[in-house]
Amino acid sequence: MVKLTKLSWKLAFQYALVFAAVLIALNASVLYGVKFFLIYQAEQKVDSVSRAVEQRIIGPNSEQMTLGDPELINEAKSDNTLNIKVAGPSGKIVNGSANFNTLSVPMIDNINTARKIEGRGLNLVIKNTAVIDGGKVRAYVQVSQNMEKEYTFLKILLILLAIADTFGILFSLFAGYLLSRKMLRPIDKMTKAANAIGLSGLSARIEVPPADDELSRLAKTFNEMLDRIKIVFEKQGRFVADASHELRTPVSIIQGYIGIMDRWGKQDEKVLQESIDAIKKETLSMTIMIKKLLFLARGDNGSQVLQKATFSIDELMEEVSLESSMLASGHHFSFQGSPGLELFADRRMIKQMLRALLNNSIKFTPKGGRVTLLYTGNENNIVFSILDTGIGIPEEEQVQIFERFYRVDKARARETGGSGLGLSIVKWIVDVHEGEISIVSSVENGTSVAVTLPKLLELQL
Ligand SMILES: Nc1ncnc2c1ncn2[C@@H]1O[C@H](COP(=O)(O)OP(=O)(O)O)[C@@H](O)[C@H]1O
Ligand SMILES: [Mg+2]
Repeated sequence: MVKLTKLSWKLAFQYALVFAAVLIALNASVLYGVKFFLIYQAEQKVDSVSRAVEQRIIGPNSEQMTLGDPELINEAKSDNTLNIKVAGPSGKIVNGSANFNTLSVPMIDNINTARKIEGRGLNLVIKNTAVIDGGKVRAYVQVSQNMEKEYTFLKILLILLAIADTFGILFSLFAGYLLSRKMLRPIDKMTKAANAIGLSGLSARIEVPPADDELSRLAKTFNEMLDRIKIVFEKQGRFVADASHELRTPVSIIQGYIGIMDRWGKQDEKVLQESIDAIKKETLSMTIMIKKLLFLARGDNGSQVLQKATFSIDELMEEVSLESSMLASGHHFSFQGSPGLELFADRRMIKQMLRALLNNSIKFTPKGGRVTLLYTGNENNIVFSILDTGIGIPEEEQVQIFERFYRVDKARARETGGSGLGLSIVKWIVDVHEGEISIVSSVENGTSVAVTLPKLLELQL
């Protein structure tokens, strides 16, 4: 909440700053423009009055006036912001009005240009003219316009604009704050909702603002992230529950046999041996299951390290088939493939994968059946195929068998001795090697599993 307030203030300040800069620039240009216009007007006026006075001095004979004629400076009589002075050729002032003081401005100076004089108590636009007739200077005329009023007007304008600006900036600050607070309110809501999520489990969701903007997208993304987290969380929970459940069975069997030994085993050697064998078997299967669980857990949290290297497929096949043919007593076991293939992968894991697949085929194929391992390759891939003539997998369960602890026939599961983790591990290994696995199977006829792995030999360079 504190952060949010700060952010809206920050935004408001920035808006106000930009607004103030624009306002000040605008007002400065207005003031400058008005001033320019007023001076220009005064110059025009001074110009035309000068010309009128000049006309009266050197105009057509019938209209000529003497330099001392009071009519000569008519304009200054009706307009007290205007001053006219007339001097003879020697520069001596012979006629003039005294609407305001222009004594200090010399008359024979800057002839013929209207100019602005500021300072020393004067604000004037002034023009000196030399009246020339027949090549001789007849007189000097000085016309000046008092700009005092205009300057006062400009000053008042400046003060008014400054006051308006101050209010404008304060208002923009305030309005900006309120607006950004309103805009940022969804963030506040999101923060509260996100805070509540831990408390109410993972099912709470953030309300998505109706407008399709950045905030609604953030809310949507956040909700989608929660969906994903929830799925992973539930999967993890189910995994733990399943694992505990699976481990409970061997533990209770072991407890049962310990009870038997306690009661009868001390006298009866046969019962004792039977119990020890059973406990051995259960502990072994538990150890294997825990190993598999650890493998998967390491895979889940990313701590499973792959040790990739290039190795010969032929050698690997020798090893695998030797082990498997020992297990497959009573099955027709065969393996064949193209010689000379190489693969860049974690050899241990590839072996583990093939072993798990072959073990399944052996386990789910009745004695006398056929189990075959084929391997081929092209420049990109290596394909392992494991074929059997076993009991097969019903079509609708061919996807599920890759799930952890999933077994088609739960009742027979203890008999076959599996935990339902084998194919999950196989899938993980295929995935980290960026390969693909596919199953073709029909009940009673048998199963064939194909694993395609990219060779990736160039990666070693
Ligand atoms: N080759 C196969 N023939 C028939 N069923 C199979 C075969 N491979 C796997 N299955 C089915 O898929 C299930 C899961 O296999 P897996 O994950 O290796 O577990 P497990 O071997 O421990 O039972 C097996 O229980 C079995 O029902
Ligand atoms: Mg298995």
